[in-house]
Amino acid sequence: MSKTYPPSESFTKSAHIDASGYDAAYARSVSDPEGFWAEEAKRLDWIKAPSEIRNVDFTLGQVSIEWFRDGTLNVAANCIDRHLETRGQQTAIIWEPDDPKEPAQSISYADLHRRVCRMANVLESLGVRKGDRVIIYLPMIPEAAYAMLACARIGAIHSIVFAGFSPDALSARINGCDAKVVITADEAPRGGRKTALKSNTDKALLHCKDSVKCLVVKRTGGQTTWVEGRDYDYAEMALEAGDYCRPVEMQAEDPLFILYTSGSTGQPKGVVHTTGGYLVYAAMTHQVTFDYHEGDVYWCTADVGWVTGHSYIIYGPLANGATTLMFEGVPTYPDASRFWQVCEKHRVNQFYTAPTAIRALMGQGDEFVTKCDLSSLRLLGTVGEPINPEAWNWYNDVVGGGRCPIVDTWWQTETGGHLLTPLPGAHALKPGAAMKPFFGVQPVVLDPQTGEEIHDNPTEGVLCLKDSWPGQMRTVWGDHERFEKTYFSDYKGYYFSGDGCRRDADGDYWITGRVDDVINVSGHRMGTAEVESALVAHEKVAEAAVVGYPHEIKGQGIYCYVTLMAGVEATDELRKELRNWVRTEIGPIASPDLIQWAPGLPKTRSGKIMRRILRKIAENDYGSLGDTSTLADPSVVDDLIENRMNKG
Ligand code: WT7
Repeated sequence: MSKTYPPSESFTKSAHIDASGYDAAYARSVSDPEGFWAEEAKRLDWIKAPSEIRNVDFTLGQVSIEWFRDGTLNVAANCIDRHLETRGQQTAIIWEPDDPKEPAQSISYADLHRRVCRMANVLESLGVRKGDRVIIYLPMIPEAAYAMLACARIGAIHSIVFAGFSPDALSARINGCDAKVVITADEAPRGGRKTALKSNTDKALLHCKDSVKCLVVKRTGGQTTWVEGRDYDYAEMALEAGDYCRPVEMQAEDPLFILYTSGSTGQPKGVVHTTGGYLVYAAMTHQVTFDYHEGDVYWCTADVGWVTGHSYIIYGPLANGATTLMFEGVPTYPDASRFWQVCEKHRVNQFYTAPTAIRALMGQGDEFVTKCDLSSLRLLGTVGEPINPEAWNWYNDVVGGGRCPIVDTWWQTETGGHLLTPLPGAHALKPGAAMKPFFGVQPVVLDPQTGEEIHDNPTEGVLCLKDSWPGQMRTVWGDHERFEKTYFSDYKGYYFSGDGCRRDADGDYWITGRVDDVINVSGHRMGTAEVESALVAHEKVAEAAVVGYPHEIKGQGIYCYVTLMAGVEATDELRKELRNWVRTEIGPIASPDLIQWAPGLPKTRSGKIMRRILRKIAENDYGSLGDTSTLADPSVVDDLIENRMNKG
């Protein structure tokens, strides 16, 4: 048995939930979900309180998920207006810029109200109405928060595109949800470098309808080209805009946002989250998982381009009236102590980041941490991928000084909020385990072959959810059939997460990683199919197969097998060219780590690529390839092994 870390007495004493509190509330949440969630819904200010709590059907062909259906509310009013009376002057958002020499900003709830109202009025003056889609392609600046909340205020549906994505990825998303407006900035400073967002947007808009408008926020003041009648200057319009905008009454099941995420096949899909259930769940998990208390300063290092930024920088914390920190930069700029300097500077109490960042910083040595005063920290969190015990221990000992519980939160873009996590005042932690289901969450381990539930412990299998929770995605934008097929068809009657897991002898959960063709590179989720389609779009590439392989810092690296067109010479130069090609097609996060020239790929006689074999070779584990006799040409395997790139 490995070492466990029970919560300290002092932490438990002030925590929202202790061990017996968890057991009792969990039992109630699954035996009487209607009663449990009716009670929890009261954390929000409803215009009309819901009386219908849940309508859920996981049956393939008629999947339908609704929570609090007859309730009405406004998300921005819940995140801002209702706090004005009690904490108008309290800081809502601390903004820390990329360059530490530039001053930080403190935005009070009263400031936030004015800024969001102005942005909402600007959007209305551009013709945006309830139900319209708005793309947000911004750096991590306060205007990103204003834009999200302004959309929520007028009932528009936002879809954020991570500022690291390419013009092609941007235009695909603008067109995918038929957006009326794109909000962008001149440039995005990050790690001392600048990404030209406006010029990326100009390129993207060449592939979009002429009616799409572009609202431009000034961040650096860098030069941009301007298209009269299409481009609008945000600063100028905000000066003219009124300070108040009435929040629109929304149905609980009206969409709040769309967020595109990768799957195992095809192009990214638009995950749809709705208004009431999502906010109840984001607010509750933020408070309970992070043991957030009034007055705490809370920092999640994610980008608002990912779901973590939606739920745990903006919506959850602000619904709870918290002080939430927004960081524009990267962990290693100007040096590897930046995270810890920011913690010291703003007296951060809860700190939430990704294992890839922890591993990268761990490699730089302890001094960057120990020279900072981290005595304000009370809790640490991780998300995005399994955390290896070595990184967990470093995080615990060096960053947390052995005093701070670590919540390892397992969830997904699709789940809206945490599904598996220890609660810091309740559970003895196990390094690397996501531990326990959150309230109302019913995880099951299925036998991947038979699809039967396994009840015994310990066990291993695929991780599914037996029933709905309020933060669950409702559909894929414009393609409900794809929603059902992706999540409800492999294992009938369950939501299939795409992850494998172990459940140990104590009944605690350990995520083992994706069981589909999705890879997790530095916590960024990517479909291998997306990288393949980018590669084959290059004129010199005939065929490509992409798999993940273990990478010390990134968790998984991107390994590409590429078959070139006849007569094309395989050179290092071409490797570089392909790497850059993928970066511009998708974005720097999709940059291939290893490219192997493959004269042939292992295929079955029906032409299906046998990825299992390619994965093994990429993992340098070619001793156990399994049965290769069904291959059309088994000899290609020897060549692939001989010339493998990962010989480490
Ligand atoms: C996938 C979802 C949810 C926000 C970040 C990623 C992996 C996420 C953990 C964790 C092990 C994790 C899973 C999941 N994952 N958190 N604590 N332990 N694996 O969201 O981009 O939708 O990716 O990330 O494989 O399916 P996402």
